[in-house]
Amino acid sequence: MTQNRPKLIAGNWKMNGNRAALSEIDAIIEAPAVEAELLICPPFPLVPIFADRAIASPLAIGAQDCHPAESGAHTGDVSATLLRGLGARAVIVGHSERRADHGESDELVRRKAEAGLGAGLEVIICVGETQIEREAGNALSVARSQLEGSLPDTDQPQRITVAYEPVWAIGTGLVPQLSDIEEMHAAIKAALKERFGEAGEMIRVLYGGSVKPANAAEIFAVSGVDGALIGGASLKAVDFLAIASAA
Ligand code: PGA
Repeated sequence: MTQNRPKLIAGNWKMNGNRAALSEIDAIIEAPAVEAELLICPPFPLVPIFADRAIASPLAIGAQDCHPAESGAHTGDVSATLLRGLGARAVIVGHSERRADHGESDELVRRKAEAGLGAGLEVIICVGETQIEREAGNALSVARSQLEGSLPDTDQPQRITVAYEPVWAIGTGLVPQLSDIEEMHAAIKAALKERFGEAGEMIRVLYGGSVKPANAAEIFAVSGVDGALIGGASLKAVDFLAIASAA
């Protein structure tokens, strides 16, 4: 546990869900309290709908991306300021699917993270190696270099969360060896401390990639794992809650 902060259990719904999925949000809100902090990040149009419903509940709602600018001529994009105004508490930036689908660079991810922090959001920055990079023995150097390029300058590093998500483990049912997760988290934490000093120890480092109710407890028991970023298994409240109660 990072500096006694509760674990963060974050759901990334990706391009899934609709208005009817409010019933999943209701189920999470109505479930017995857990120690972990809970966050669900639905597609943009659902953010205000879910945020209104979750208001005054322990469930926070976030978004999956934002534009670095506050407003302007950027067709199809959404600003961090608007998200904050609609009730979002957090924003994910630099997810590997955005890095791949939209060619997002570390530099762009850093500017998005800055925009998120500037708008008053918590920011989840994703890093992680591909299968080829791991096989070449470059997992650590890839994650370190993504971090270095993607981390914003801030005097409030505790508002940043880092998600370590090996690309090959996302949506595949594959999970790294627990010892590999431990090694990656230790290296990420060392880099955060180097970058932000003691305050860097406040930054939670989540594991993401095929986290399910069946493997959550063993992943959370790994030293340096401060929570999870969950895709598929976050779409159903029962699975999300089962993972949260393992934290
Ligand atoms: P997954 O996705 O849990 O479906 O593997 C994780 C993620 O992409 O954040």
